[in-house]
Formats: sequence, structure tokens, C-alpha cells
Amino acid sequence: IRRKTVRDIASAKGGDPLVVLTAYDAPTAEILDPHCDVLLVGDSVGMVVHGLDTPVAVTMDMMILHGQAVMRGSSQAFVVVDMPFGSYETNADQAFLNAARIMKETGCQAVKLESGAYAAHQISHLVERGVPVMGHVGLRPQAVNVTGGFRAQGRNEDERARVMKEAKAAEEAGAFAIVVEGVAEDLAEEITKAVSCPTIGIGASAACDGQVLVTQDMLGVFDWVPKFVRKYADFRTDIGKAVEAYAADVRARRFPGAAETYKLTKQ
Ligand code: KIV
Ligand code: NA
Repeated sequence: IRRKTVRDIASAKGGDPLVVLTAYDAPTAEILDPHCDVLLVGDSVGMVVHGLDTPVAVTMDMMILHGQAVMRGSSQAFVVVDMPFGSYETNADQAFLNAARIMKETGCQAVKLESGAYAAHQISHLVERGVPVMGHVGLRPQAVNVTGGFRAQGRNEDERARVMKEAKAAEEAGAFAIVVEGVAEDLAEEITKAVSCPTIGIGASAACDGQVLVTQDMLGVFDWVPKFVRKYADFRTDIGKAVEAYAADVRARRFPGAAETYKLTKQ
């Protein structure tokens, strides 16, 4: 196997932090690949690429199309594809049929599902049948219609206990890693100590075994991003400037110039 394997990822517990970013298309995957342990084809694609307000409307077909593109663009990273809302919650058979379809049609190495404690059964069913599963606890974007928005989780003892229960259930069911999203540092630390697989944090402090960000967020594609994002570039401004310059050149007939024009001599 030329790519990182599930053992490389699972064995990173307590070692060097795992580097994870989202990817949805081939050229971006190619740029990210040498630097990342894991590329996550997140259902965040619905929001950051397709302009949806929540991930609820994301479909299996969308995840497969973007998963295929990321597989074509990457060569060494471990690629995980999100199972979209409605593709795994019904029962274990539904989860396996959809997970198998994602694995077969994209060639990815694993799937991720948002693992409320109820999903433990789905996780063990998939793992027993050859599908490595990454869990996802804390702020679960697919559940925003129940929680009433994208809010940090673990605001009281009941919520903290629920998030911890979700994480333990995912681990016991055989998840090889767990994304922990939108929780305070002390809870992230408790979870990381309580589970034997690596935790990958997003808005969950440096206490986790790895970090993930949505690539468009850290590249500054949007003018608003959550508190937990660090912007490493300002694409919104850079792309705006580039397009402004192009528009001015076209309108002034400065583009195309001689260097960008074919001169074909007749035979
Ligand atoms: O969809 C996504 O991008 C995710 C990560 C933010 C963990 O689930
Ligand atoms: Na997701």
C-alpha cells in the first residue's frame, strides 16, 4: 500500500499531532497531500463549495464525486469521506450499503460518520465488514436543526456527559480515530485521555491528538469564520485583486497581449 494506512493513523495516539485538512477537488488535494496525514472529504463541501447553509442537503452522489476527485489528486495521504445526513442513521444495513458504495466508487480508505451514541452499532457493523470508521462527536453539524445552530457543546454537566458518552461509544465500537468538534479545552482533554484512539480536534484545543480545519476557512476564502479558525492566507482579497486586474486589462484591451496570442503561419 503506497498510502498511509489506518495503522499509521491509529498509532499516532499520544505521538506527533496528526495533520488533517478538508479537500474536495483534485488540484487542491494535490497541493495539500505532501503536508497532511489525512485528507477529509467533509460534508462541509455543501457549505463551502455548494453554498448551502447546513450539511443536511448533501447527498451520497456529491460525496462520491468529490471523493473521486480527491483520490485522483492525492497519493500519500489517508483519505476519509464523510457519510452524509440520512445515509447511515436508519440501521446498520443502510450504513453498510452506503459505506461500501463510497469505498468502491471512490477508492478512499475510510468513512466518517457523526456518532451520537446511537451510531455505535453502525460503527461496529462497518468495522467488522472491512470499513474503517472515524467518529465525530461534540458539535455535530448534521444535528444543527436539533441543537438550534452551530454552538459549542458541553455547556453544562448533562451536555458534557453526553459528548463523553458519544466518544466512548465510538471508541468501543471500533472507531480508529474520533473528530472532536466545538468543545472546551478541559472536555477535549478528558475525552483524549478516556479513549485509546487518536482524537482530532476542530475548535477543541491543543489537547487533542491531531487537528483538522476546513481548508477554505484557513485560506481565508470567507470573510467570516468561527473563533477557532486561524487564517493562514487571505484568498478572498487575493482572488478579488486578481479578478479586478483581469477585468481592467480586458476592458482596456491590454489582455490578451502578443505573448498570449497564437501566430500560426500558413503552410
Ligand atoms: O465536514 C467536515 O469538514 C468535517 C470536519 C470539519 C471535521 O466534518
Ligand atoms: Na462533516
